[in-house]
Amino acid sequence: MRNDLRAGIVGLGIGIPHSVVTNYDLEQCIDTSDEWIFTRTGIRERRVAPHGIATSDLAAQAALQALQNAGKTPEEVDLIVVATATPDMPWPSTACLVQAKIGASRAAAFDLNAVCSGFVYALWMAAQAVETGAYRCVLVIGADILSRQVNWEDRATCVLFGDGAGAVVLAPVDEPYGVLAGVLGADGTGAPLLNVPAGGTREPLSPEALAQKRHTIQMRGREVFKFAVTIMGEVSLQALEKAGIPSEEVALFIPHQANIRIIQAAAERLNLPMERVFVNVDRYGNTSAASIPIALYEAWAQGLLKRGNVVVVVGFGAGLTWGACVVRWV
Ligand code: ACO
Repeated sequence: MRNDLRAGIVGLGIGIPHSVVTNYDLEQCIDTSDEWIFTRTGIRERRVAPHGIATSDLAAQAALQALQNAGKTPEEVDLIVVATATPDMPWPSTACLVQAKIGASRAAAFDLNAVCSGFVYALWMAAQAVETGAYRCVLVIGADILSRQVNWEDRATCVLFGDGAGAVVLAPVDEPYGVLAGVLGADGTGAPLLNVPAGGTREPLSPEALAQKRHTIQMRGREVFKFAVTIMGEVSLQALEKAGIPSEEVALFIPHQANIRIIQAAAERLNLPMERVFVNVDRYGNTSAASIPIALYEAWAQGLLKRGNVVVVVGFGAGLTWGACVVRWV
């Protein structure tokens, strides 16, 4: 292993459905209001994938754009990791479907499921793979179509989520740039707080499960909220400590976009003004594993990420899971 080898983000891309569903649209079909949704969550609208579009379609679109922005071809990719909780099908992996779609014929491919923390998990794992020298061009993709897993009659969950994909290309870069540190964690005792009970081996799909909507997202929202407001700040501070960087040096904080109040609490814990926090939850809602790479892409496209900037990405999700990475932009 070479100690001077670092993994840097050298290209970014997104795959986002065109169809917008606003809070006003939701007012037409469930007992809710734009005012309730916006004040509790910060969400104004979300994207919903049309029938016929699957997770691998959005992921492949994001991947091709990321490769183009990195100046690399699909044949150069040697590993594809797709973070998703909503694969096209139980198996094979969505990563294999993406590999075929983009023609990355040399690449190994696998999925990783840490739900909304999935992108941070995949980024940190893939960074290790690059740092060992084993892989030189890795596609890390976060992609989810949660609109297919929500119960559209449950106002407590259906207003929160949206669909999308984001991708980054990781490649070796010189010190002092690249992914500097990462911290991942999980607490499986929290699994009952947020899950999709039916459709797996514990409770295979059945007419009863379908009738009771047990194949859709079940969430104890207040408890998840309490967990999230604490963990996002804590794990970010742990990752910064590991990198040896004080929080004042963070140029941009890119948290999982689930709820503006959770984001504000995390920023407060780091003592960061909201000008240094990237927020797009108003336009996309919670896109699960896609939320951080979509936000990263938009920050980059808006010119907010400059060479040498310290960026912190942090997520939390079902599992329960959490993770943060500190990156010095290349
Ligand atoms: N419109 C109107 N009223 C609503 C809606 C809605 N869409 N949803 C719930 N309500 C009502 C409830 O029924 C409740 O009414 P009651 O007091 O008469 O019983 C009232 O609003 C308050 O409900 P709470 O759940 O207490 O509202 P809270 O302020 O906690 O906000 C929310 C709910 C937004 C879900 C919040 O708890 C939250 O954001 N939790 C975290 C969720 C999250 O981030 N999940 C994703 C994790 S990532 C992953 O891995 C998928």
